[in-house]
Amino acid sequence: MTSVTDALWRIYNRPERPLPWITGGNLPWDDPDFSRRMLREHLDQSHGAASRQDGERAAQIDWLWKKLGLQSGQHLFDVTCGPGLYAVEMARRGCHVTGVDFGPASIAYAKEQAAAQGVADRCHFNLQDVRQMDYDDNNVVGSFDAAILLYGQLAVFTKEEAMALLAQIAQSLKPGGKLCVELLNQERVDKKDSNWWYTDDKGLWGDAPFLHLGERFWHDDEQISVERFHILHLETGQMDEVHLCDQTYAVDEMVGMMKGAGFTAVDVYPAWDGLPLYDAGEWIVYVAEKS
Ligand SMILES: C[S@@+](CC[C@H](N)C(=O)[O-])C[C@H]1O[C@@H](n2cnc3c(N)ncnc32)[C@H](O)[C@@H]1O
Repeated sequence: MTSVTDALWRIYNRPERPLPWITGGNLPWDDPDFSRRMLREHLDQSHGAASRQDGERAAQIDWLWKKLGLQSGQHLFDVTCGPGLYAVEMARRGCHVTGVDFGPASIAYAKEQAAAQGVADRCHFNLQDVRQMDYDDNNVVGSFDAAILLYGQLAVFTKEEAMALLAQIAQSLKPGGKLCVELLNQERVDKKDSNWWYTDDKGLWGDAPFLHLGERFWHDDEQISVERFHILHLETGQMDEVHLCDQTYAVDEMVGMMKGAGFTAVDVYPAWDGLPLYDAGEWIVYVAEKS
């Protein structure tokens, strides 16, 4: 049996409905090749799928600067900072920035950009899984004026992990420090099952022709979507299987989690507070303050 036939049989025999978190739940951001290919997507100005396009990001940065009460000289923590597109700009405005992400190409790019923009002395970028950061060892307890966790990344963690991360971020903030979290609006999320496919010569999934088969399953009881991708690499017959979970939260639940994590006041901004982002209506932004 050829490896392609083998792969097709594996697809044919796949479990019908993948359960959340059973075989991972996130993209392989920390795989060096995937990270290198993903960096192209972060920087591609023809779409905003991995990071927002420059103009939209500039509007967000102005908004964050105001709502988080940032000032030159303050310390900002960018949790899942990706290629540092927000962090480096905040450093250009005078902040000291710590960015954490486990994508190696992204962190390398963030460091390069900090140096190129002359702000390397105000930027620390750490290649690390944010769930495994030792907040004590890194001397971060009570050291930040503000933190950001953008583009829905809190949703790729289980509720337990999300709660633990919120508590750690709260711990890392000074009294009065603020955290901004951007999450998909649960009411606007597509709650239907679906599937799709496409082929490409090169792209996110590889540098040679591949076939991507995607399926999406909505789990209504847990309010979570599970996407399952089979990627068949045509030249080798090798197949990758990736599962991506997106936990959605009702506003009351997220506010409750933030308060449980150590924040006292939480402001909620549906649709990015009216910012002109192409998909603003899909999002809710939370700004939580530690007492
Ligand atoms: C959609 S990108 C957004 C990056 C950045 N905030 C932006 O908007 O440009 C999500 C980022 O989360 C990072 N990420 C996801 N899970 C992570 C984890 N467990 N630890 C560290 N980084 C993680 C990925 O590597 C990726 O860079």
